[in-house]
Amino acid sequence: MNAPIGVIDSGVGGLTVVKELMRRLPNEQFLYIGDTARCPYGPRSATEVRKFTWQLADALKSHSIKMLVVACNTATAVALESLQKKCPFPVVGVIFPGARAAIKVTKRSEVCILGTVGTVHSGAYEQALKSLSSSCKIVPLACPPFVPLVESGEYEGDFAFELVRKTLEPLNKESFDTLILGCTHYPLLQNHIEQTVGPNVIVLSSAEETADDVDRILTYYQIQRKKVNVEEHYFYTTGSVAMFKTTVSKWLEIPNPKVQQISFE
Ligand code: DGL
Repeated sequence: MNAPIGVIDSGVGGLTVVKELMRRLPNEQFLYIGDTARCPYGPRSATEVRKFTWQLADALKSHSIKMLVVACNTATAVALESLQKKCPFPVVGVIFPGARAAIKVTKRSEVCILGTVGTVHSGAYEQALKSLSSSCKIVPLACPPFVPLVESGEYEGDFAFELVRKTLEPLNKESFDTLILGCTHYPLLQNHIEQTVGPNVIVLSSAEETADDVDRILTYYQIQRKKVNVEEHYFYTTGSVAMFKTTVSKWLEIPNPKVQQISFE
């Protein structure tokens, strides 16, 4: 089936999921919307995030997508259920796959979850982790500076490392052997986070397990595509096209990606 797969996020973070989707499903076409102008979603109310997420989903619906990946934990936490109920195609979120990845590797059943304020307050990871392992001990920490840091593009140097180290200070007194990057922006800070928590903690994102789910659903419904050309992937942003283009070509290694502006309201 030649229809594209839609992917949405509040900004560039969901591209970390697209990277894994492209690696696993090289014949599929992706349409992505990053709501950069209204990013971050993390500090916003659940009602507002739900409204924005539906706007992004509706915009992709008009492109006849065959599946939607909500590549944003904050949006998944508050909107996944309603999207799954009302969309005429399968909708995949990133929280359950992230929890599943953690439960597979944790030895002591002690999992730290880093996320936005919205994701942490929603309790969605606790619910997912407990549904997989009721005795799991969970250490949640909201990291509000991380999304703006990644969106600014300044996530590689000493300043970024220092900000990560400071933000993770409350973890010094906690015990856990596995850490979930519970925000799709955070894999860009993975090196800094790993350096801060040390070599005895496994740091993982939900990208691989999410790609597993997408792959399984395509196979189940037999809606795989046979072939795609790199110029068929489309990226929409509500913010600066130039900045988004730079990020897409750097992260996804697409030399001249098709990026267009889109606006809501
Ligand atoms: N990538 C989004 C997530 O996974 C970031 C949310 C935000 O914009 O604060 O939660």
